[in-house]
Amino acid sequence: MLIKSFDEYKQVYDYSIKNPEKFWDEIAQNFYWRKKWDKVLEWNFRDPNIKWFINGKLNITENCLDIPAKKHPDKIAFYFEPNHPDEKSYSISYKELLEKVCQAANALKELGVKKGDRVAIYMPMIPEATIAMLACARIGAIHSVVFGGFSAQSLADRINDAECSILITADAGKRGNKIVPLKQTADEAIKSTHSIKKVLVLKHTGESIAFDNQRDVWWHEIVPQQKTFCEPEVMDSEDMLFILYTSGSTGKPKGVVHTTGGYMVYTAYSFLNVFQYEPNDIYWCTADVGWITGHSYIVYGPLLNGATSVIFEGIPTFPDAGRFWQIIDKYKVTHFYTAPTAIRSLEAFGTDIIKQYKLDSLKVLGSVGEPINEEAWEWYYQNIGKGKCPIVDTWWQTETGGILISPLANITPLKPSYATLPLPGIIPVLVDDKGNEIQGNNVEGNLCIKFPWPSIIRTTYGNHERCRQTYFSTYENLYFTGDGCKRDQDGYYRITGRVDDVINVSGHRIGTAEIEDAINQHPDIVESAVVGYPHPIKGQGIYAYVIPTKEIKDVKLLHKEVNDLITKIIGPIAKTDVIQVVSGLPKTRSGKIMRRILRKIAEGETYNFGDTTTLLDPSVVDEIKQAKLKSELR
Ligand code: WTA
Repeated sequence: MLIKSFDEYKQVYDYSIKNPEKFWDEIAQNFYWRKKWDKVLEWNFRDPNIKWFINGKLNITENCLDIPAKKHPDKIAFYFEPNHPDEKSYSISYKELLEKVCQAANALKELGVKKGDRVAIYMPMIPEATIAMLACARIGAIHSVVFGGFSAQSLADRINDAECSILITADAGKRGNKIVPLKQTADEAIKSTHSIKKVLVLKHTGESIAFDNQRDVWWHEIVPQQKTFCEPEVMDSEDMLFILYTSGSTGKPKGVVHTTGGYMVYTAYSFLNVFQYEPNDIYWCTADVGWITGHSYIVYGPLLNGATSVIFEGIPTFPDAGRFWQIIDKYKVTHFYTAPTAIRSLEAFGTDIIKQYKLDSLKVLGSVGEPINEEAWEWYYQNIGKGKCPIVDTWWQTETGGILISPLANITPLKPSYATLPLPGIIPVLVDDKGNEIQGNNVEGNLCIKFPWPSIIRTTYGNHERCRQTYFSTYENLYFTGDGCKRDQDGYYRITGRVDDVINVSGHRIGTAEIEDAINQHPDIVESAVVGYPHPIKGQGIYAYVIPTKEIKDVKLLHKEVNDLITKIIGPIAKTDVIQVVSGLPKTRSGKIMRRILRKIAEGETYNFGDTTTLLDPSVVDEIKQAKLKSELR
């Protein structure tokens, strides 16, 4: 499966495009299937209906755990590094991980979980989060991981949408000097749900928590006494593996569905080739399992390759801004995969702190989640990689399941801020707003993908039409990514950012509509419009224009109240950076807010707003602009 040179990449890419079914058929044979597939692929993007490895039978955890545990039982699967360096770190071998997953799987069975049931996971970034996910997969239950920073209401919405019967959580989590009261938030969430029958609670921080003896079960009272083997449930290749919620331009977050066989093949293949992982390497991805990066490149991709990874509970700046570098030295990390936001925020602390660490174990650096600007790229390359480690700028999405455009480490010639070239099997195309394919190089357009790959989204949970509309209806016969993209003279791809109403804040996707819905619940606000604007650390910041019901005397207080409300409804990641009180919003005659103009004002543009003739009341633009300028002068 491993590509070893740039020439080989080009050959493999060509072959994969000309014979996609043959190509993936050969890759899929590297895994353990209970029954081989009858046919590699059936698809259309119209419905959409996409099936890979049809009638293949397998359990993904056999490939993640049983096979590596047999091959190298004592090899470390995970090193756990706690929030504070003085707390206890430990490691888990493949054999131990298999046993722990089996025990958790048997406990879930005891709690009544069956194949096809949905299980919500709301956990800190600790090995048990991973164990819980794999335990679900072991028994054919579908996991729905909810990031620990989401609010009670967001958790409740996700539980309700998927009708989860079990929630797995912990008393609390630790992030720097903050305690995240997970159980308390979960209790609050469950009040507005009807499907949860049992809550499995891990004792992690020892925080005192409310405990409902009928409903709540302590992890330590049910998991450790289970048998250390659990027969894997045999799944169909197209059986659901997990649901992961993500924000779009409209409405509530949607549950992106990934299935078993294709997801396994693609995450394993992409991990191996992008990172060029070798058997003794130590890999560390700093994401949280609450996001797709955690699913594909902390849990499934690395385990499927028998890799050794670091799991870290804390944050980059606690107890100081050298924490990442200290962890790299401690475990002799060879592969370090993080987000541009983390890089930019650490850049702000200067290079003296880095000089205290060797960082000489590093071989490959990775970037994910948002465009990496050239300056951050150079800083990362020089100061962390010491000018000798390639940076793999990996472009992909929750919906793509795995990395689609990225350099292969030490193989693809790099260009700062370019995700470079597609992986084998991936056919990116750029289209104009009418859907015409833009040919040639030195061009820019909307990024679409022309042919399915094994880990493409199958549906949005409970609402297939929404999946069709969001991804497959904008342009006929294409998967639309929602991203803008350039292709330069060498055919290299550079992602320029979202072209829809999604803001990417510190690598987290947040729909503007979701934030507006939250803001509009404030009693003194009639209407709001939210846009993104360039932010030096977070990539994009959140700028909200609000129309009040009455004169606002204290805008600072209103800003705080709005952010408290957003924190309660969505979570702190969606807090606004700037709020501007306005008397009206630029709307077209049909009542649509012209966000393009609001974006320009937020960016600091003062005169070039493009065509404003379709506006119902063009004078609003001037008023908003003047008010902004005035507030900046103050
Ligand atoms: C953005 C995260 C530029 C993009 C894996 C995409 C990127 C969205 C990159 C998906 C990158 C992700 N360069 N932009 N290397 N990686 N993005 O679903 O806008 O959380 O559509 O998946 O992040 O975010 P998601």
